Amino acid sequence: MSGAASAAIEAGGAGRGTPSPNPPVGCALIGASGELISTGATSPAGGPHAEVNALSEAGERARGATAVVTLEPCNHTGRTGPCSHALVEAGVKRVLYFTADPFAPAAGGAGYLRDHGVEVEFQPVRVAALQPWLRSVRHNRPSVTLKFASTLDGFTAAADGTSQWITGPEARELVHEDRAKLDAIIVGTGTAIADNPSLTARHPDGTLREHQPRRVVVGKRDVPDGNLTRLGFEQYATPQEALDALWASGARDVLVEGGASLAASFLELDLVDAVQAYIAPALLGSGRGVLDRAIATTIADARRFRTTFVRRVGNDVCIEMERDVYRAS
Ligand SMILES: NC(=O)c1ccc[n+]([C@@H]2O[C@H](COP(=O)([O-])OP(=O)(O)OC[C@H]3O[C@@H](n4cnc5c(N)ncnc54)[C@H](OP(=O)(O)O)[C@@H]3O)[C@@H](O)[C@H]2O)c1
Repeated sequence: MSGAASAAIEAGGAGRGTPSPNPPVGCALIGASGELISTGATSPAGGPHAEVNALSEAGERARGATAVVTLEPCNHTGRTGPCSHALVEAGVKRVLYFTADPFAPAAGGAGYLRDHGVEVEFQPVRVAALQPWLRSVRHNRPSVTLKFASTLDGFTAAADGTSQWITGPEARELVHEDRAKLDAIIVGTGTAIADNPSLTARHPDGTLREHQPRRVVVGKRDVPDGNLTRLGFEQYATPQEALDALWASGARDVLVEGGASLAASFLELDLVDAVQAYIAPALLGSGRGVLDRAIATTIADARRFRTTFVRRVGNDVCIEMERDVYRAS
């Protein structure tokens, strides 16, 4: 991948989560000799899109430049003006984009650019940071990632109930980094009551990161006083009710953090789009599983996913998967 493509993808990835309900787009402006002029990421909702941020940083240097954008520039006026118009006005000569805009009201940017003399090239590239948003607009609900930490043999707690800590400090740090890019974290009342989790995104020194996900509990039981209560949380009776409320209020990328009963429910309801599994190189032989019940009783019915990313995190491994049906086109 070219340096310009990486710069655009990196810029968009760094902003993921915060711009919802807008997509976390990245843009890089490249000069005639291939030099990087500027980058931009979409600002929090209502703020400028990635292209406009990159254009304002570039100023006059944008004239004659190539804009590399992770998503087709938008062509509609929402809370901000159309990016296609801003690119034309800035005198950008060429636009290269990696993902067509499936959101009907915003699509058509490529056509507008061509009609105004800009060279436009579409080069399909799977941009990881855009996948949750793309899934969300396809399904009219937030994209749901199921996250868990387990031993090599699939246990999230030992037979005596102890579970701290299955994974190492590096994995736990990454979880906090990820939380800061999400719209919401969902847990069941079982987890909220048993663990009293803070569900906040923290720095290693314990201070809160700038962006905090909304904290959501699913179930009817009362959650007693604790961290969750102190910082405020939302509670919904069912998974669908939670997703409907989150979607209506702008959330596009949410994480289900357990426990085993809620995770099985989301899978049974066919509401899991992606999985993020932190696997510790440890064996227990027995204990509590990732799911509290069978969601398939024969191998042919197993829920299958496509591995999209594997990385070593300290002594653990993080595997990211998505439903095969959502294979990038
Ligand atoms: N290692 C990990 O990755 C990890 C992550 C999180 C949690 N955990 C562990 O998991 C344990 C808790 O798990 P758990 O299975 O007991 O509880 P849970 O899954 O957190 O919560 C179960 C509750 O969620 C609600 N719920 C589930 N499915 C539902 C549906 N379809 N519709 C409506 N409500 C639904 C119900 O609430 P009501 O009964 O209130 O209606 C149910 O009792 C804790 O010990 C925690 O430490 C481990």
